[in-house]
Amino acid sequence: MFEPIDANQIQLNSQGQLKHFLTTEGLSRELLTEILDTADSFLDVGERQVKKLPLLRGTTVANLFFENSTRTLSTFELAAKRLSADVLNLNISTSSTTKGESLRDTLMTLHAMHADMFVVRHSDSGAAHYIAQHVTPDVAVINAGDGRHAHPTQAMLDMLTIRRHKGDFSKLTCAIVGDILHSRVARSQIHALRTLGVAEVRVIGPQTLLPRHIEALGVMVYTDMNEGLKDVDVVMMLRLQKERMNSALLPSESEFYKLYGLTEEKLAIAKPDAVVLHPGPINRGVEIESSVADGPRSLILDQVTNGLAVRMAVMSMAVSGQMQEKQNNGENA
Ligand code: CP
Repeated sequence: MFEPIDANQIQLNSQGQLKHFLTTEGLSRELLTEILDTADSFLDVGERQVKKLPLLRGTTVANLFFENSTRTLSTFELAAKRLSADVLNLNISTSSTTKGESLRDTLMTLHAMHADMFVVRHSDSGAAHYIAQHVTPDVAVINAGDGRHAHPTQAMLDMLTIRRHKGDFSKLTCAIVGDILHSRVARSQIHALRTLGVAEVRVIGPQTLLPRHIEALGVMVYTDMNEGLKDVDVVMMLRLQKERMNSALLPSESEFYKLYGLTEEKLAIAKPDAVVLHPGPINRGVEIESSVADGPRSLILDQVTNGLAVRMAVMSMAVSGQMQEKQNNGENA
């Protein structure tokens, strides 16, 4: 759709601070580490009796989800509330977009209500970039997943989960498994893992679900789980994105499960202390065996908890980056 030349020209302010969060691609190791450190500092808020911090008091956050979501929408809403923001969840199915209103007009309407942040999920790749670049550059825009392109907060919650369980990224071999072709999560994970300096990133999937030239992103490519999972520290499963498949790319789900589903037997090929991640929603018996999803090496629910802290981190950082930019420009922050 609307792909900019350099996302950092849009998502960073003149001092290199985050003012939108659109993609992990091109961000420095220092900035990704700052997100992880800030998220770490928020993790204990959920365990307090009063689960609130005043960091976004007086700020209005609008969640605009043009695609379905459970985890991302609810954790963004809760993250904003934990930071004391006012939160507006626009119900797209009953909004004026169903009467033909353009994305731009919907956004400008919310802008006129003095919203300070838009959290956007959209089926078009580049939608969040477009808003941040062309519609409301003075409102912090957080990409909550755009088409096949990027899902940066998902990647960062995965990085936080890996760091909390494995520590040093530089010693790790991480494998991303399944429908790489349609996955915005995989793209954001690859950029984050490479920038944070993991020893090796592998992608594993059937040829039909691997993007052409994926190795240009600095990953090792495997079509065989038995080879790809050998000596792996972190297994990152993906959902089959059936809603983005416009032709038959798989013989059947049962065939996919037989070859690429993560069973106890296949997990035994990875290192004995390998951990398992999945962004959800999970399809049991298609991508992952129930006993693996619910087993001791699964971090799937830790990912959800860590997602709340990561979303608190990027929201507070982006609002602060926007305020800094306005001060630099001599505007009232
Ligand atoms: N992982 C993820 O984006 O899940 P939702 O679609 O439920 O938000």
